Amino acid sequence: MTAPTYYLHHVCIYDGEPRTNMWTWLKWYHAIPQYYWGGEEFHLTDQGHVDYTFLACGSAFQVQLEAPPFQFEYERNWAERHGSGLNHVCWIVDSAKASYDHLLANGCKPAQEYTEFGVYNGFVAKDPEGRWIEIMEYVGDFKTPDVEFRPFGIPGLQMFGVTQFTNDLAGQVDWYCAVMDLRPIHGSVESGIVYLADRDYDAASRNVAMILAEPTSAAELVEYEKHGALIGAIDYQAVDFDRAYPDALAAGFAEVSAPALDARTGLNTAVLREPSGNLINLREVFTPNE
Ligand SMILES: [Fe+2]
Repeated sequence: MTAPTYYLHHVCIYDGEPRTNMWTWLKWYHAIPQYYWGGEEFHLTDQGHVDYTFLACGSAFQVQLEAPPFQFEYERNWAERHGSGLNHVCWIVDSAKASYDHLLANGCKPAQEYTEFGVYNGFVAKDPEGRWIEIMEYVGDFKTPDVEFRPFGIPGLQMFGVTQFTNDLAGQVDWYCAVMDLRPIHGSVESGIVYLADRDYDAASRNVAMILAEPTSAAELVEYEKHGALIGAIDYQAVDFDRAYPDALAAGFAEVSAPALDARTGLNTAVLREPSGNLINLREVFTPNE
């Protein structure tokens, strides 16, 4: 079986108040590349329909704010168990069916079986630690629009990607590299954090990564205990880090820890909480170690 190529696209937040909470993101240099508030005529299944908003900030990676009622019962069950949380990471592929066969042959379990929705083909699988992986194959003209892939706004802010917490960092790095064809670009297993890039990563033009990390800080450990292995934080980097941080507070993000050197990454890092409660890491720009 030829392994599909996986490209990072978005992380989803279950957020019961997206119309209120999105203002915090918009005040922190984000844009809305697309929204789907179409009521019962769009992405309708026999179990529900969508309400979601995509937010972007200077990169190919985006955040999806998804609100009830949700398209499927299994999503409602997740929301009941976890409340607001970082629900899934989505990857774009050329063939969702090939990806479905590939991931299930490599230790994933289906959360939602392969489905042809008309505007896209896709499914949701659980990775070996149970985190949700959404796979999408665009069909026809349907596509969530991109924003410009360059540092944005006064502080040069970029939504950089997502952190997934694990207590088996070496095992999870091996799995994501072997199965989803990612490669390390920063950090190390020994330091407790590894930045992984997909095939299209380019520090100058497509600056996105998936980060695997052992939960370390008190805030991270609380999240890990609450949810189990989970998608733990959304990651940003800023050219003018010293400006991006107070701007985040002014926009309405809550402080978790003030800027300080993170020994794991060697980068100045602040931790914030977005309006529905999930962690945000803001770091200074780094130079990949490749
Ligand atoms: Fe999604």
